Amino acid sequence: MDLESFVEKFAVERRGTDSLKWDGLQERYGDPDLFAMWVADMEFKAPDQILDALHERIDHGAFGYGMIDDSYFEAYDAWAVRHHEARVQREWVRFATGVVNSFFWMVNAFTEPGDAVMLATPVYYPMHAAIRNNNRKLVSTELVRDESGVYRYDLEDMERVIVENDVKLFIACSPHNPVGRVWTEPELEGMLELCARHHVLVVSDEIHQDILLTDRPFVAAQEVAGGKYANNLITLNAVSKTFNLAGLIHSHIIIPDPDLRARYDRWAKGIVQTEVNLLGVAAAKAGWLYGEDWLEGMLAVVRRNDAAFRTRLAEFSPHIFMPTLEGSYLLWMDLRGQTDPAKTREFMAKTCRLAVDYGEWFSPRCKGFVRFNLATTPANVDHGLDLLTEGLATLH
Ligand SMILES: Cc1ncc(COP(=O)(O)O)c(C=O)c1O
Repeated sequence: MDLESFVEKFAVERRGTDSLKWDGLQERYGDPDLFAMWVADMEFKAPDQILDALHERIDHGAFGYGMIDDSYFEAYDAWAVRHHEARVQREWVRFATGVVNSFFWMVNAFTEPGDAVMLATPVYYPMHAAIRNNNRKLVSTELVRDESGVYRYDLEDMERVIVENDVKLFIACSPHNPVGRVWTEPELEGMLELCARHHVLVVSDEIHQDILLTDRPFVAAQEVAGGKYANNLITLNAVSKTFNLAGLIHSHIIIPDPDLRARYDRWAKGIVQTEVNLLGVAAAKAGWLYGEDWLEGMLAVVRRNDAAFRTRLAEFSPHIFMPTLEGSYLLWMDLRGQTDPAKTREFMAKTCRLAVDYGEWFSPRCKGFVRFNLATTPANVDHGLDLLTEGLATLH
């Protein structure tokens, strides 16, 4: 589907619909009138076929406990093959009430209080909370930006952090939020080999797997080197970012290794006793079966919005750095060449009137960075850019 048709058909106003992004501004930023470009969801309705599947489920009228049948796995598998995602055997999969919730479960199931859990920062902030809130030791290896502006793992530093802290678990992010990398197979293999060698279990959050702006295919950690590292790996994924379904609270925990699975099950027996969300299941299945055309339209919008940011800001302010957006719809921006990092929050909220995610939420070293959400209409992005460039103009 082309960009114009997509926007015309699916754009939707979310203010006044109990939307965290818009109606939660007062709570989050202390100001209800900021223009929301934070949090990873969209101003787009889901594909028609998902809405039809949900209507059908609702029209049935009974919402008793649900279950997942073979047709669900068939739909996932067909999509996974086309999109290079983690293939599954049915018995490998456990269901969860979201990927964020699953970070907390993984930390509890596979580590003990006081154990070191590693992140490659800057990275999605709920991962930090999952470690800290459970009294584990958060240790991080900072991603490095090479001469061409590409963020990479620093494997030497990662090894030092692992050895010095006796790291038990690494929560990886692929594609990486917020730096937008779609890791290559050699990069993933370097990380997976290092973790395996030091007995560090890898949890790979692959929720942005479908949102690809590069021509390179996504590589699921589970498929690296023909599955060589799958016995030291747990993949967390969902179709919720892909089709804007996050509020339906349904995701996967994929554990190919039988011993790890047994360990998780022993832990989960005392904690996790929910059945699946009927609506989340119906929506996911319809998305995998029929969502291709919608996804193409959504990606065209994100590409356009990404280009708009780069064009406007290159003309306006060449000192702002944005890494190439390879995956996800989240644009990472280094504003340190423009604003005093200590004043970036004030600049965004008070001068620009924008609600964005702040760099220090992702790493204490990233004060002066911000993250913009591009999964919105071109009109919204252009308005956000007007606000940003007007704010920047006051600095000159
Ligand atoms: C890397 C990453 N993981 C997980 C999530 C959220 O997952 P869920 O909505 O399933 O809790 C997000 C949302 O922004 C994300 O960016």
